[in-house]
Amino acid sequence: MSKEIKGIIFDLDGVLVDTAKYHFKSWIKLSAELGFELTPVVEEKLKGISRMDSLNIVLESGGISCSEEEKKAMAEKKNTWYLDSLEGLDNDVILEGVLSFLDAVKSHNIPMAVGSASKNATTILSRLDMTDYFVSIIDGNHVQKTKPDPEVFVNAARDLQLEEASCLVFEDSQKGILAAKTGGFRVIGIGEKTALKEAEAVISGFQGVKVEDVMALLN
Ligand code: BG6
Ligand code: MG
Repeated sequence: MSKEIKGIIFDLDGVLVDTAKYHFKSWIKLSAELGFELTPVVEEKLKGISRMDSLNIVLESGGISCSEEEKKAMAEKKNTWYLDSLEGLDNDVILEGVLSFLDAVKSHNIPMAVGSASKNATTILSRLDMTDYFVSIIDGNHVQKTKPDPEVFVNAARDLQLEEASCLVFEDSQKGILAAKTGGFRVIGIGEKTALKEAEAVISGFQGVKVEDVMALLN
């Protein structure tokens, strides 16, 4: 095991839970209502950023401008659809291999935190009974600046009482990887190498992944 990594910070959507697709489906629904279609290129851009930043990208891609009031209403509508799609949320939404990986990290006595842009992070983690794994859950309700600013990870490292350079971040978004790198963290991407070139290494997910495998990627 790498001697350098003393703590691990996980993004939530698309890393621990398979909710990124529900976020995107809700944005598709909103854009359809507004009369345009979202492309996969836009989908990648929406990952990791706050609800309002996402809305601005969605509106820009459809060439739509509107007032702050209207934007607030649209963001609320999207969030309602998103939460509706999480009705009956159960362990199936937890990505494959995640629970085994968290258990393994715990057994290595490596403290863990969550660093997510979502304001729904605590709700989702409590409903899945996952909060006990983490020393700290920093989400969109606890930060002033969103990814690619490193604030969310810096706050998580502070709660872990660790230096940034000794924390490993797992991220599925380009903005999150940038945030981790800007903050001086080690970072492994979750997803496709082509989309996550800036990460130190990329894995497709946690299925069958051992803590030692991950540490070896960083050496
Ligand atoms: C991020 C997701 O984790 O949270 C984004 O990758 C999402 O897609 C953002 O827009 C904000 O989430 P929420 O739940 O606060 O609307
Ligand atoms: Mg994510």
